[in-house]
Amino acid sequence: MSHARVLGIGLAALAAAAVAYAQTEVTPIPDAAPVETAPLEPAAPEAPATWGDPQNGQALAATCAACHGVDGNSQLDMYPRIAGQSEIYIAEQIARFKSGERSDGMAAIMKPFADMLSAQDARDVGAWFATQTSGAGVADDTVIASGPYEGMRFYEVGEQLYRSGDPARGIPACMACHGPAGTGNPGPAYPHVGGQHASYTQQRLEIFRNGTGAERDNDLFQIMANIASRLTEEEIGALASYMEGLHPAADDKVAAEAPVQAAAPAAPVAPDADPVAEPSTVESPADGVPADGAAAPDADASGEAAPAEAGEPAEDVPAEAEAGTAELG
Ligand code: HEC
Ligand code: HEC
Repeated sequence: MSHARVLGIGLAALAAAAVAYAQTEVTPIPDAAPVETAPLEPAAPEAPATWGDPQNGQALAATCAACHGVDGNSQLDMYPRIAGQSEIYIAEQIARFKSGERSDGMAAIMKPFADMLSAQDARDVGAWFATQTSGAGVADDTVIASGPYEGMRFYEVGEQLYRSGDPARGIPACMACHGPAGTGNPGPAYPHVGGQHASYTQQRLEIFRNGTGAERDNDLFQIMANIASRLTEEEIGALASYMEGLHPAADDKVAAEAPVQAAAPAAPVAPDADPVAEPSTVESPADGVPADGAAAPDADASGEAAPAEAGEPAEDVPAEAEAGTAELG
């Protein structure tokens, strides 16, 4: 027990100490917590980035071509397609590779290339790939021999979940956020997923489901972690296959390229969208555009968090349900 410290605290503490003295048992005064010197500024602040310049991005993209392809449509399925991916999403992921937040999967291969880019470079290169058109593959139409989906074609299991989700298990329709043709929603940084190599999509869904590490704290990651935790291995495979075959039909491409407004009124996707819980859990963190949670009913009854149904993308989901079709080989 240090008297110096007691005196330093002041009279009240002195009085307390005196009382303590007067008692037969002396209560030790706890040590003061060490003072933390909080940094006044974040370490190594990067100059804030503005909207990307696709022309500068095209020059930077030469480095990416070896793996992702000249136009972002990689030939090898271990490298994700990034053609048609939104600028914001690309910049966000590059920032995560750089910080080490995204370290699962094959991130170690990607990190050195992310490290070479400033925040503005990441926007520029993102703006370039966003102008490119994503290709697509083919979905697997093998008939499932046994199990809960016996008799269905493999991709149909994915199609059903992608378009309608499974409300009974709290699985939202993927197209609510990723769009009927998988083109995503750049406002809230919901990525383009149509035409992506199935093995990559499968790996990502498994990481969302099982992943550990710093990325788990990220709000956007959490949206998918919550959803993926409800999917079986077979469903993940089927979704990945369906999404590989997903591409915009010619006349829908025009609609998909029209500017998307993140704050459009929410349209219920699942047939019984009643148990929508916590409509405000989905925000648009990327750009601060509020998801229109206020329009959704404040039904909190089930306690089931189905965040997807709150922040609908602007697309007229039911009407365009036919837009994305799996291309069968
Ligand atoms: C040596 C090969 C290689 C090069 C070169 C490379 N990447 Fe990658 N990139 C990868 C791999 C592998 C992944 C998948 C990482 C994972 O599993 O998380 C990836 C992932 C990405 C992702 C995340 C995609 C998604 O859908 O989440 C982006 C964005 C990306 N790369 C952008 C770039 C850009 C921009 C460049 C050029 C400046 C580049 N990459 C250069 C191998 C490469
Ligand atoms: C509420 C909106 C929402 C819904 C619904 C949703 N997603 Fe996502 N999805 C996201 C967000 C946000 C990300 C980006 C996560 C991140 O940045 O870590 C994402 C990322 C992904 C990725 C990774 C893409 C890449 O390039 O790495 C895949 C694959 C994916 N989602 C598949 C699905 C599937 C399959 C479903 C339906 C079962 C689904 N999503 C439903 C919001 C959603």
